[in-house]
Formats: sequence, C-alpha cells, structure tokens
Amino acid sequence: MPTVNAQQIAEWNGPQGQRWAELQRQTDRLVGPFGVAALARAAPQPAEGVLDIGCGCGETSFELARRVGPRGWVLGLDISRPMLEAARRQAAGESESASASKGESEAAGRARLEFREGDAATAPLPAGADLLYSRFGLMFFDQPAAALRHLRGALRPGGRLAFVCWRSPRDNPWAMTPLVAARQALGVVAEPADPLAPGPFAFADEARLRALLAEAGWAGIELQRFDAAVTLGPSPRAAAENATRIGPTSRLVREVGLTDERPLLDALERAFAPLAAADGAVRLAGSTWIASAVNP
Ligand SMILES: C[S@@+](CC[C@H](N)C(=O)[O-])C[C@H]1O[C@@H](n2cnc3c(N)ncnc32)[C@H](O)[C@@H]1O
Repeated sequence: MPTVNAQQIAEWNGPQGQRWAELQRQTDRLVGPFGVAALARAAPQPAEGVLDIGCGCGETSFELARRVGPRGWVLGLDISRPMLEAARRQAAGESESASASKGESEAAGRARLEFREGDAATAPLPAGADLLYSRFGLMFFDQPAAALRHLRGALRPGGRLAFVCWRSPRDNPWAMTPLVAARQALGVVAEPADPLAPGPFAFADEARLRALLAEAGWAGIELQRFDAAVTLGPSPRAAAENATRIGPTSRLVREVGLTDERPLLDALERAFAPLAAADGAVRLAGSTWIASAVNP
C-alpha cells in the first residue's frame, strides 16, 4: 500500500465512501450551493477539457460535461471505489437512455466523460486540460503543495483552477453544532486537533492556502469567502441522522464505536429542535473559500 495519502485512501474506500455513495442525494443537496459558486468562478466553456478532482459520485462532473458540451471532455478522478461506482452507474444509465432514444452513444449534448480511480497527488493525468475544478476534493492530501503542483502540470499554460473548500470549523456551525452536542452526549472531551492535518478543514486558513498554491506554482491566486446555509435535514430527527452519517460528527461516532445510536440521535434531535426553521428543516451556516488561480 502506498504510504502517501494511505489513510485517506483507506477511509474513502471504507465505510465513509460507502455512506457518501448511499447518501448521495443528501450530500449533493448539502454541498450543492457551494459547488455552484465554484462552478460560476470556473466558468467552463464549450469544447474545454476539464479535470474534476475528488469527483466522488460525479454530480459536478456531469454538470461540467453538460457545460463544455459534445466537443469537450471531462475526467472525474477519485480514490473512492464505491463513489466512482455510483458515478459510473449514472453515466451508463444516461448513455443507455440517450442511445435508446436517439441512436447516440453519448448522452445528448454531453462531453466525453470518464471516471477514473487514482490518487490525484500522483496519478498520470491527460495533458493540456483547460480547467481543473473541485468541490471539496482537494483538502485530503498528506503533501498538499506537491499535489497541487502535480495537478497544475496537467493544465495548459493559462489553464484555470477553481475549487471550493471549507473555512474554519468555528465559521461552520453545520459541522460544529452537532459535533459539540455529540461530544457532550457521549462525554467525550475534545482533543486538540492538528488544523493542518488532511481533512475537511485543512485549507481553512487563508494565508496557508495562498502559500500552498503559490508554492505549487499557481499564479493569479484569488480567494473569496462564500457563505450559504447547509440543509442538514427536513426535520431535527433527519438532521440528527444525517449528522451521524456524514461530516465531522460521523467520524466521532465511528471512533467511539456506538452499539446503540438512539440516545445520541435523541440528544442531537434536542440540540437541533430550537434551530429548526418554520418548515421544520434544519439549516445551519456554512462558510467556504472559493479559490481560483491560473497556470502561468
Ligand atoms: C468531501 S468528498 C467530495 C466529493 C465530491 N466532489 C462532491 O462534492 O460530492 C471528497 C472527495 O475527495 C476524494 N479524495 C480524497 N483524497 C483524494 C485523492 N488523494 N485523490 C483523489 N480523490 C481524493 C474522496 O474520495 C471524496 O470523493
């Protein structure tokens, strides 16, 4: 097993990747607005070649493929087999219905789209891409500057980078509210965490993110804060269930190894209840960086 990124590769191929694949609709809804903001910054053009890094179940790859159209191409790269399987199933389904209705091999109006398994830090990549995009897929590298340099090597001169990553945990109540409530319910004392460790908040610090991108040779670096509500669920109970399955609270649940999750779900439901909107849904603040840069 390779030593670089081995832990993340194992996690995304284990129960974490399984859950993301099973809960694809919920996760797509949860992160959707942030991906749309990064897509607006990426501004994909017809006939462009695009890399979607950490593409997961592929929602953004399909959207990119629609944007660049039949003369373009999109490569979705990820290390998670369960998530790639979900993406490939959807691609096969779309191609089948397109060929059934139109006698075409590609889904109508879509670019050539491939989903490939590989570690973005080291995998061979097609040369000359116009755009490198990622929705929350770049924060998991053991050696981020080296990975970001490797990825830059796939872009033509002038090629663009646009991605979204989380800002700090304190700016993301959608992640911290259930985590704090879960720690309290489980009697777990928070260990001081390494803020630079690979994980959702690894790129939270603006100065560090700028320095990593510069070290990797990117130019024209721009970071813009983008905040939006994260919908955790249509009710406090559903939000409690989702929080224990995706995001930082789910990691705590796995670490503690609960045999009966009901008392925790009850505690989270109580924590969410006063925060629910008039329609019952739990929407909490999320805060990200929309980052962009150019391969000089
Ligand atoms: C938070 S998920 C986001 C997935 C997808 N972009 C989305 O928005 O639904 C992070 C993704 O990055 C992938 N990932 C993590 N480390 C990676 C690496 N070294 N190379 C490629 N993909 C990686 C994970 O497998 C996972 O699919």
